[in-house]
Amino acid sequence: LPAPHARAGAERPTVIAHRGASAYAPENTLAGVDKAAELGISWVENDVQRTKDGELVVLHDDNLKRTTDVEQVFPSRAPWKVKDFTAAEIARLDAGSWFGPAYAGARVPTLAQFMDRVDLHHQKLLLEIKNPDLYPGIEQQTLKALDNDGWLDVPHLGRLIVQSFSADSVRTVHELKPAVKTGFLGTPPVADLSWYATFADQINPSYTSISTGYVDSVQAFEGPHGRPLEVFTWTVSDADTARLVAGYGVDGIITNSPDVVRDALPEE
Ligand code: G3P
Ligand code: CA
Repeated sequence: LPAPHARAGAERPTVIAHRGASAYAPENTLAGVDKAAELGISWVENDVQRTKDGELVVLHDDNLKRTTDVEQVFPSRAPWKVKDFTAAEIARLDAGSWFGPAYAGARVPTLAQFMDRVDLHHQKLLLEIKNPDLYPGIEQQTLKALDNDGWLDVPHLGRLIVQSFSADSVRTVHELKPAVKTGFLGTPPVADLSWYATFADQINPSYTSISTGYVDSVQAFEGPHGRPLEVFTWTVSDADTARLVAGYGVDGIITNSPDVVRDALPEE
């Protein structure tokens, strides 16, 4: 009998550079996109939030402390929330020195800058809408930004997935632009998957929360575009874990070290 995941049509999982190739370059910067491209990785993940004056920017945390020099530049502005700073203020910050001196001067990119860099390398974008409760209307605004840059044109739709930990946010994206592929970040109970499958093409769980059985259960559902739900799992750092989750049958592996994960997976 074939092994559970030696089934017909099973493919090597897609490798996604988490926040860019963030083991090697500061997360969510253009340098991280460049590094992923240099490693030959076509999918890049990022996190999108909004400034005080309504600009979409790429940053993971809801505040600027961990990954910029905001405390030095604006010492009186605690707790340094993204939503309390203008785009011009954020553009002054160094988002690279914390990672290493070679990256001094790296900036927090706007979403437009980030998309342009991904496009320059002919890469693909796994865009996470981060903390949507803090940013009413961010789904519509993000879709408009994507549309303005041509990402919603039919030839490019296959280069884009929009995901969020917020089911409401994912559902809103699906309802506003049904053609866009979407992902829900989390591990919903199997009993709830039929509901998620009405608006999400992917269920994207932590690798620590899944098994072959769970992945099979997800993939048994058909998503809103009539294809089996996919599973992109996160955040895998080492070769052994990459092989483990590939054995679960996941469709994608989100990783800070995309070269390590790619090289750990068997050739197709
Ligand atoms: O893309 C999956 C992963 O990014 C989810 O967690 O906290 O790194 O945004 P986080
Ligand atoms: Ca993320």
